[in-house]
Amino acid sequence: MFLKSPKNNKRISVSLPNKRQEIFVGKDLSNWIIGELLTKEYSGFIIFCDTNFAKIYKDLLIEFKEKLKPVDIILVEPSEDNKRFNFLNSSLERCTEANFNRKGCFVVLGGGIVGDIAGFLASVYMRGVDMVFVPTTLMAQGDTIINKVAISHKLLKNIIGSFYSPCTTVCDTNFLQSLSDEEISLGLSEIIKHALIHSKSFTNHLLKTLPFAMSDRNAYNWDEIVYKSLKIKGELVEKDPYDELEIHKGLSYGHTFANVIEGLSQFNLRHGEAVALGMRMSGHISHEMGILSKADFEIQEMLLDAARLPSKFPHSVDPDHIINYLKRDKISTNGEISLVILEKIGKHKVIRGVSEELVRATLIKFQP
Ligand SMILES: NC(=O)c1ccc[n+]([C@@H]2O[C@H](COP(=O)([O-])OP(=O)(O)OC[C@H]3O[C@@H](n4cnc5c(N)ncnc54)[C@H](O)[C@@H]3O)[C@@H](O)[C@H]2O)c1
Repeated sequence: MFLKSPKNNKRISVSLPNKRQEIFVGKDLSNWIIGELLTKEYSGFIIFCDTNFAKIYKDLLIEFKEKLKPVDIILVEPSEDNKRFNFLNSSLERCTEANFNRKGCFVVLGGGIVGDIAGFLASVYMRGVDMVFVPTTLMAQGDTIINKVAISHKLLKNIIGSFYSPCTTVCDTNFLQSLSDEEISLGLSEIIKHALIHSKSFTNHLLKTLPFAMSDRNAYNWDEIVYKSLKIKGELVEKDPYDELEIHKGLSYGHTFANVIEGLSQFNLRHGEAVALGMRMSGHISHEMGILSKADFEIQEMLLDAARLPSKFPHSVDPDHIINYLKRDKISTNGEISLVILEKIGKHKVIRGVSEELVRATLIKFQP
């Protein structure tokens, strides 16, 4: 069940097995979402909302509450600790206590953490209920959920997951205004990733405009880069919804390193920082192997620098410990290290059996 298009906004339609996901990018979309949701025949709503977002946009949450009359509102502290079974259990309890049934719909307001928690629960509760996602961070908009949701277990990031998409995703870029500069940088990491793996022209666009985005945020056209970023993600997922072919793996560029270093930092390193470091290390490895040219490697570095993303680990790391975990990543098989790397700007590939010596030397190079 999806919503009709609002006027004057960008729209992406992603065809997935048994489902079509509609994604809208634009401004001032909240009233439209409420209106549309009320025209659908849902048996009830549960709202999941990020606690910080709820404080900043108190009036908006009240409006959602008064108009949708949800059977419950679950406030979610955006901590990686909550992306685990414990929190999921308590949310599940709330759904069953509210007699929420499979004809109901989750309405989710928040960043990637709230999105993954509610999305994972939506994928399994009564074998799947609808979800309308209103991502409110640049990370959750530019890399919004398309057919994958996940939670973590102990230090293993995103190890438990489902293939699931919200039926409708509404990226209202007005919400980006209240984000800190740091959150903008973190969100840019995934947008840069989409450009690097799939589009030379988007990479050039970011090269030209990112310095301006960082110096005059309010005047920057965020709609355009969120839209371009999601066009790429949607296209790759549509071609390979179950992540079986090399094409989908591009979306994991930087993530093999990122998942490990984020987990080993006890999630003190933020996802966007870890992805940026992961891309820098993978780029370095590809260049050292004679695959990625110096010029293209430097373009990647310029983009990540322009977005003010880190170039070193914040604390020293144990390379052998990291190597051990890299061998256990979802993409690696047979106890070897596999990595997604860039061949050139706009083209990625997967390499298997990467030299441990090269990985160790790279990890040492990135020590503070
Ligand atoms: N399933 C997917 O496809 C997917 C994609 C990308 C990221 N993720 C996951 O998302 C998580 C990271 O997401 P994130 O970076 O959005 O982090 P987050 O959800 O922690 O949000 C970041 C911070 O921004 C605050 N916030 C949210 N909206 C705000 C607003 N409009 N104004 C001011 N503050 C606001 C939050 O309270 C939080 O403090 C990671 O766990 C990552 O694995 C999942």
